[in-house]
Amino acid sequence: MTKLRQLTALATAGLVAGLAGCGDGAFDPAGRGASEIADLWWLMFWLSLIPIAIVLAAIAWIMIRRRRGNVTTRAETKPDERPDRRTILIGGIILPIVLLVPVAVFTVATAKDREADGEALEIELTGRQFWWDVRYPAPGQNALGRDSFRSANEIHVPVGRPVELIAESADVIHSFWVPQLDGKIDLIPGRENRLRIEASEPGTYEGRCAEFCGLGHTMMRIRVIAHSEEEFEQWRTREAGPALVDLDAEGRELFSDRCGPCHVLRGQIERPVAQGTLGPDLTHVGSRDFLAAGAIPNTREGRARWITDPQGVKPGNLMPWVGLDAGEVDELVELIGELE
Ligand code: CUA
Repeated sequence: MTKLRQLTALATAGLVAGLAGCGDGAFDPAGRGASEIADLWWLMFWLSLIPIAIVLAAIAWIMIRRRRGNVTTRAETKPDERPDRRTILIGGIILPIVLLVPVAVFTVATAKDREADGEALEIELTGRQFWWDVRYPAPGQNALGRDSFRSANEIHVPVGRPVELIAESADVIHSFWVPQLDGKIDLIPGRENRLRIEASEPGTYEGRCAEFCGLGHTMMRIRVIAHSEEEFEQWRTREAGPALVDLDAEGRELFSDRCGPCHVLRGQIERPVAQGTLGPDLTHVGSRDFLAAGAIPNTREGRARWITDPQGVKPGNLMPWVGLDAGEVDELVELIGELE
């Protein structure tokens, strides 16, 4: 009996842990794809309770019989008390068909590509060790053209409009997953995957990389921020424009020397096109809530820690220590905060 109790405790702990893992939004859908997935999950859950109830009832029945002592071996049972073919037919063939056919039909329907309602907004998402490069069409446009612009680690979308994510990778396989909006999509080098997401309510939806991609994998977070159509257009116009700070010659030189080889600061620094191919676009980095793909809050202290000890904050990331003195750190912490 103690063994049974231990097993029950273990099963309960497993169930609680499993459900806690889903606690970040899969059961609280805020987008069309996620709603469909949640509906399918609940259908599977309720249907699976039927065989579980039957099996538990059978076990209980056996246990009660054993307690009462009227246990018989097969040889002792009369032929008409043995399970007959009908029981095997119902339990082994008919019941599984009745339970699994609806699951199969709904699974195929859910997995099918969703048809577009209205024109989708294209957003290109490139996975990198260990952050997200995001490219948007120019203000007012839906498709990615020559005047598209980059941002990082946040995806801003209009509410109620389909967004076509074009997912790619610059290095290894990553996976984009925002449970409240939709299922996962892999980002694979040399391949273009597409996922159509649609947020039904304004808000901030947390996501993460869902494919082990190296040392910094657990700190590869992303957030999708859904705005009203009007707010989104305002955000896009500002984000597409140049940085809004006026740098003096000294600040300009500091940024371009220390950060410029890997990062872009649009509109402020005239430097060769080689800029910006390795790290996130920093033109409006001050408006983001986090740095380093969710690794550290974008506060004064956060920025100082990130610049002085990138490997301590997020082991394995590709940002090098560039040998700044205390004055330069202060200046850059100030500047990055102003880049809104
Ligand atoms: Cu990128 Cu895990």
